[in-house]
Amino acid sequence: MVAFLLNGEAVCIESEPPSRTLLDWLRDRRGLTGTKEGCNEGDCGACTVMVTGADGRPRSLNACILLLPQLEGCAVRTVEGISGPGGALHPVQQAMIDHHGAQCGFCTPGIVVSLATAHANGDTDYNNQLAGNLCRCTGYAPIIRAAEAAATAPVPAWIAGDTAPGAAPAENPSAPGFRPASADALAAWYVDHPHATLIAGATDVGLWVTKQFRDLDPVAFLNGAADLRGVEVTDDEIRIKAMTTLSDLLPVIAPHFRSFAELIRRFASVQVRNAATVGGNIANGSPIGDSPPVLIALGAVLHLRKGDSRRSLPLEDFFLEYRRQDRAPGEFVEAVSIPRQPDRLRCYKISKRFDQDISAVCGAFNITVTDGIVTGARIAFGGMAGVPKRAAAAEAALLGTPWTAAGIAPARAALGDDFVPLSDMRASAAYRLRVARNLLLKACLEDGGESAHVLEVPA
Ligand SMILES: Cc1cc2nc3c(=O)[nH]c(=O)nc-3n(C[C@H](O)[C@H](O)[C@H](O)COP(=O)(O)OP(=O)(O)OC[C@H]3O[C@@H](n4cnc5c(N)ncnc54)[C@H](O)[C@@H]3O)c2cc1C
Ligand code: FES
Ligand code: FES
Repeated sequence: MVAFLLNGEAVCIESEPPSRTLLDWLRDRRGLTGTKEGCNEGDCGACTVMVTGADGRPRSLNACILLLPQLEGCAVRTVEGISGPGGALHPVQQAMIDHHGAQCGFCTPGIVVSLATAHANGDTDYNNQLAGNLCRCTGYAPIIRAAEAAATAPVPAWIAGDTAPGAAPAENPSAPGFRPASADALAAWYVDHPHATLIAGATDVGLWVTKQFRDLDPVAFLNGAADLRGVEVTDDEIRIKAMTTLSDLLPVIAPHFRSFAELIRRFASVQVRNAATVGGNIANGSPIGDSPPVLIALGAVLHLRKGDSRRSLPLEDFFLEYRRQDRAPGEFVEAVSIPRQPDRLRCYKISKRFDQDISAVCGAFNITVTDGIVTGARIAFGGMAGVPKRAAAAEAALLGTPWTAAGIAPARAALGDDFVPLSDMRASAAYRLRVARNLLLKACLEDGGESAHVLEVPA
């Protein structure tokens, strides 16, 4: 059984498989067809819903890659529940009408839910809030004008009063899938079910369901394990627990590593970042995941657990070859920790679109310079090999050289020894190598005070 509030009404779902998406259930079982299916893979935002969890903060999520058991104990609002009793319009809906924010209307329910969620949270960075909502015909100017017009209106009572009812006992035997309440419970269960699928935010796993029609059973949903979530900052390290979402990580990491925070801002969209976890980004083992190169450049250590035994290893050693990681059956990611250090990090994401796109190349540079000479270098790339990988030859070539465009020329050349990238639909091998070399130059020039931002074109 899965229990949550849907548009203010308690629902209990029995006899649905653990892989049923919220989108399918809303449309097929509840007739709530305002939530649209566009891409069915988290890209377009037509299926956006508002979900309030135990912390009381509403979040926008993509219903197409949200599995029903992830909603246990939450309050969910679809576009039908954004308007109030008797059909009273939400201020965002009225403003969308007043400012002509819809033409064909296909994107409109998702946009209204995203804007109503931003409105409830007081978020006014609309370019960011709407990066995961694709509108192909109205254009964003009228939509943003509508958002601005609604910003100062009070949050309607029916939204403000939406508190999550709280989860049922997490290891409820009648629940579809196992829902451990703690890391200990997960560890004990996973040893006995070593080939189970662990589901964190489901932003990767959800696509195995919607695009590959995979059978995931048995499954464990990790979002009930509160002790797997959160970031601890001590004098020695920043410890990021596996279930920390990218959205929750961003404000905590920003004061320590500004460039990492900017990169997270470009990780997918608000909806995806609200679900996607750091543990999932690492465990998935993708060569183009955005956080691993950055964490490797920062010297991060991965913490794994199997039953009661734990081990730690440098993150770069976790990635063995394409999609093969150093993780035994029954072993899971508990946390990743970054040693405290001055902020010398520069990281860059190169993708075809600025927002909501997967990296062609992601480069992270952690360079220590003393009196103009490089005395320490950790460089890692995504998109340049079958795994996120350190640039050992370039690092060695940098040590002892001047941190200048001329001084780093041998290191830029050495990147050709470190990587033999692939050509695919995102970029050719030649482009990738050239970009990697240019990113090292960019890091050096920016340290020297020259700055170029892709969104700023000087006259
Ligand atoms: C539209 C869209 C855009 C995206 N954009 C980006 C992007 O810009 N950059 C990027 O890097 N990624 C992107 N992704 C991919 C995805 O969001 C990330 O990889 C995300 O971090 C996965 O986390 P999750 O919690 O959703 O993992 P899940 O999908 O729940 O799990 C992913 C994998 O990790 C395993 N797993 C999860 N947690 C653990 C754990 N604690 N221990 C062991 N195994 C575990 C799962 O079993 C599964 O194999 C995008 C995805 C979508 C749908
Ligand atoms: S249908 Fe496109 S994001 Fe869900
Ligand atoms: S109004 Fe047609 S896609 Fe946005």
